[in-house]
This record gives sequence, structure tokens and C-alpha cells, in this order.
Amino acid sequence: MDLKGRDFLTLKDFTPEEITYLLDLSADLKAKKKQGVPVDQFHGKNVALIFEKTSTRTRCAFEVAAQDLGMGSTYLDPTGSQIGKKESIADTARVLSRMYDGIEYRGFGQDIVEELAQYSDVPVWNGLTNEYHPTQMLADLLTIREHFGHLKGIKLVYMGDARYNMGNSLMIACSKMGMHFVACTTKEYFPNAELVAQCEEYAKETGATITLTEDAMAGTKDADVVYTDVWVSMGEPDEVWEQRIKELSPYKVTKAIMENAGEKAIFLHCLPAFHDLKTKIGKEMGERFNITDMEVTDEVFESEQSKVFDEAENRMHTIKAVMAATLGWK
Ligand code: CP
Ligand code: NVA
Repeated sequence: MDLKGRDFLTLKDFTPEEITYLLDLSADLKAKKKQGVPVDQFHGKNVALIFEKTSTRTRCAFEVAAQDLGMGSTYLDPTGSQIGKKESIADTARVLSRMYDGIEYRGFGQDIVEELAQYSDVPVWNGLTNEYHPTQMLADLLTIREHFGHLKGIKLVYMGDARYNMGNSLMIACSKMGMHFVACTTKEYFPNAELVAQCEEYAKETGATITLTEDAMAGTKDADVVYTDVWVSMGEPDEVWEQRIKELSPYKVTKAIMENAGEKAIFLHCLPAFHDLKTKIGKEMGERFNITDMEVTDEVFESEQSKVFDEAENRMHTIKAVMAATLGWK
């Protein structure tokens, strides 16, 4: 499989075989990391990491993965560059392509990362936009495959705001890989109809199914994977919190939801998560809205069923695979 020179902007652009290849490469790179086998094939190469929004996992995964592959990296933080303020995306792409071998971009609209890719001569990797989070998908698929041994036929239920990057991307990933995707939330938070129709087309090829439901119990019945994300994403205004809490509370992942899911069900979350608003993180939010948790209870988050830290670790192995494959892994 040759993915050299390809951009990685959304899984829509990748076939099930290419996604499987990236997962296999991730598993291989993970095994090599655990065994201490070096993979530094890319000495002399450098990557630029643009972050217009904050990050822990994605930034660290790109930096560690680049270093393991033998490459240098430059982190451009949300305030420390000319991008989007004094310099256009097109000019930025043409400048960075002259110095770097690959560019990661985390920011706002998908159109921005697409423009970056259009004007760049080197691969561009989407580290999260409002619409998609494709590197997260590879980590999620790898974690599910490690746990269940396969992807086809797995029922994944996404609870919460399914119109945004995580809901959209999970629906694409599941439909590409022959999984059963359920968006479980109120109608207002269902993914947009055009994307659902596009995913229905992928599903026809793979045997996947897509279900949108407002019924939390029917939706999560016998699920293999229960997945959620924050109710308010980066870049959204502070004013939406109150309404989100009111509207999405019926879709909080609780012990009752996990008991309703399959016997061997696991819980996943891309993180960061609001699961314990009694402690310092989120305490202010907890007091403001008189709540102790948000999208998932602390009980579920800390339970045996929760695989969120395996998932977080897999960000690094999968991002390493994306960079290696698109830069010409041998
Ligand atoms: N899941 C994820 O993208 O985490 P960060 O925002 O910390 O990168
Ligand atoms: N939906 C979240 C995902 C964070 C990884 C956000 O965009 O903030």
C-alpha cells in the first residue's frame, strides 16, 4: 500500500483497505515501541505543527511520534505565528512547504485545512477541525480492534452533540469499516442529513448501518462501544453551556447506560472529559450549574469498562503511522 504524498484531512478520502493498512502499521509501530525497536527512518526531515486551538494529546502525539521517526518538529501555538492574522493560509502553506516535509493543522473550519493542503507541496494532516478529527478515529478504531479483535459488526453508540467533529468522524469511520453506528441524542444534535446520506453510501459497500435515535435506552441496547465527548467544543461561546447541559443531560453516560449496553461493552471518550466537577478541574463549572459531572459520570469513567487511557496512548502510535505512511515508510 503506497500512501506517500497523500494528505490526511478526513477518513472520507480513504478506502477501508487504506484505513486497515494504517491500523496495521499503527499496531506494528506500537509493538516496535514496546520492544524498543528503533523506527527512525526519517532523519533530516522536519514537520510543522500548527495549533490554532489548544491540545494535550494531539500535540504530544505528533511531537513524540516525529522524534521516534527521527524527525525534528516545530510547534506553532495559537498566538505565536502570523497565520490567519497577518498572513493568508495560502501564503503560509507555500512558505512552510519550502522548509518542512509535512504540516499538521488544528483549528477551525475544514475549509482552512483544505486550503492549506491545496497550496502545500508536502502532506497536510488534520489535527482537528470543527467538522472532523480523523487522527482521533484511527486511535479509536485501533483501541476497538485491540479489544474485540475485529471491527466489522461492532455496534458503536455516540451520545451527545453528534453534529460536530467527533460525531461526524465516528459516523464516517463506522460506515467505512462495516460497523453499526448509532447517534443517540435529541433531534437538534443529529448529524447533518447530507453527511448521513454520504455515509449511507459507504455503508452499502461495507454492511455498516446508521441509526439516529432520541431514545437513550433503545439506542444503547447491546452496544459494544459507548462513546461520548464534551458537550461544548473548543471555540464555541460560553453562553451555550446552560442550554447544552439541559438538552444533553438525558444522554449522559451513566452506570445504567453501561448496564443496558452489551455485557462486554467498553466506554470510550476522545478526552479531555468533564467527569468529576467536585475536584479542581471543572469545579467552577460544577458550582455554576450545580452539577457533579457532565457527559459521563465519574463512576463510569473510572470503571473497568473505561478504556480511555488505552485510547489516548493509541493517539501516538496512530499519528506516527499517518506521518510514516504519507512520508514514505519502507
Ligand atoms: N483528543 C484530543 O484531540 O485531545 P487534545 O485536545 O488534548 O489534543
Ligand atoms: N469536540 C471536541 C473534541 C476535543 C478533542 C472539541 O472540538 O473541542
